Amino acid sequence: MDRLLISGGVSLEGEIRIAGAKNSALPVLAAGLLTREPLTVCNLPHLVDITTMLQLLGCMGVQRTVDEKMNVQVDASTIGNLNAPYELVRTMRASILVLGPLLSRYGEAEVALPGGCAIGSRPVNQHTAALRAMGASISVENGYIRARADGRLKGARLFMDLVTVTGTENIMMAATLAEGQTIIENAAREPEVVDLANCLKRMGADISGHGSDTIVINGVDELRGCRYDIMPDRIETGTYLIAAAATRGHIKVKDTEPPALESVLNKLEQAGAALRVGKDSIELDMRGRRPKAVSLRTAPYPAFPTDMQAQFTALNAVAAGTGSITETVFENRFMHVHEMNRMGANIRVEGNTVIVEGVDQLNGAPVMATDLRASASLIIAGLVSRNETTVDRIYHIDRGYECIEEKLQSLGARISRMPVR
Ligand code: EPU
Repeated sequence: MDRLLISGGVSLEGEIRIAGAKNSALPVLAAGLLTREPLTVCNLPHLVDITTMLQLLGCMGVQRTVDEKMNVQVDASTIGNLNAPYELVRTMRASILVLGPLLSRYGEAEVALPGGCAIGSRPVNQHTAALRAMGASISVENGYIRARADGRLKGARLFMDLVTVTGTENIMMAATLAEGQTIIENAAREPEVVDLANCLKRMGADISGHGSDTIVINGVDELRGCRYDIMPDRIETGTYLIAAAATRGHIKVKDTEPPALESVLNKLEQAGAALRVGKDSIELDMRGRRPKAVSLRTAPYPAFPTDMQAQFTALNAVAAGTGSITETVFENRFMHVHEMNRMGANIRVEGNTVIVEGVDQLNGAPVMATDLRASASLIIAGLVSRNETTVDRIYHIDRGYECIEEKLQSLGARISRMPVR
């Protein structure tokens, strides 16, 4: 298990390139199960979660070929079994994304039921309820979801009780090959859902309304292969911008998609950042000034993303003033707070809100990462600390941030990885 060693106190300066979006790449790879033709996925980020998804597809018999540009071709014509084993699902909950495609194309699937995780209980009842409404019979036995369809799934009008990103994606994929029309009401509007819909359309699916809360899918008999470029990662983009703002720096992120970051850019401006937004780049300049504390509330897109609240907590920890951060999507996403307080932050948790009173400076300390975005927030806290911070359990960060220490180093940060035996 590696750990990161950070010597804080440097303002980030320079330019970096943003990778493809993890949360778009995962469903797009799963969509490869919907066709017997090869699907070539480009701009894939180099992340442990992507490797896990490719391993999962591989253990079902899907052939994977990587070309010299690191584009990955998945070919499901060779599929041999329809089982997603617990050993993989427990390391990555997004494995549930194979359920809809398998059931829709092969009429059956067995997927280990994901357990709770560090950020909440995270049930998948919305996924299974919608598939049942489409005619599947689903049971949970020995920790596995066993799903069967008698012939094709049937299109249905579905009202999701709550907005779920992977739930919407799973059902949208299942509906592409169902008989008749499926309408998903209260659908997730996240840009990654739109990216998946665009890929499915290129594969021959009939989808409209993606990006709104009502998605309409007319089932087709079959889908074909295609070549698809994954959208840039908006959470990676936001994380570097917040790190630059917290360190009073000046950076430019390139190859990104600014419109997907509106709520985040708005908060960065409130924090005092000067922004210059290009077609596919964002330049942030704090002009050496201390950030101002901001208050925010997470909610499904287009509101402020839950995946970025921990990073803003780190910014608020050293900002001028007091900011409050309310988490409405997950019930337990404040584990980083206790670690930041060990670094001298002044943060208290009140129900689903944290109140952060900015301090002049944090003090480096050994801290432990509990989940992906919490890890990112602890790295930001390390960057704004006096002296050294070590962040343990960074396997979390490698799930979602490509080459994080190299990218931060190129922005001037003093950060290195230490192997721990
Ligand atoms: N929920 C249910 N029942 C369901 C599905 C969801 O109660 O059947 C609840 C969840 O427990 C949660 C809320 O609904 O309280 C929203 O969860 P959602 O299903 O939208 O989350 P997800 O699809 O499991 C994706 C991202 C997460 C991101 C959330 C919210 C992927 C692979 N993961 O998760 O990303 O936080 O949407 O935007 O797309 C991350 O990248 O670090 C990450 C956790």
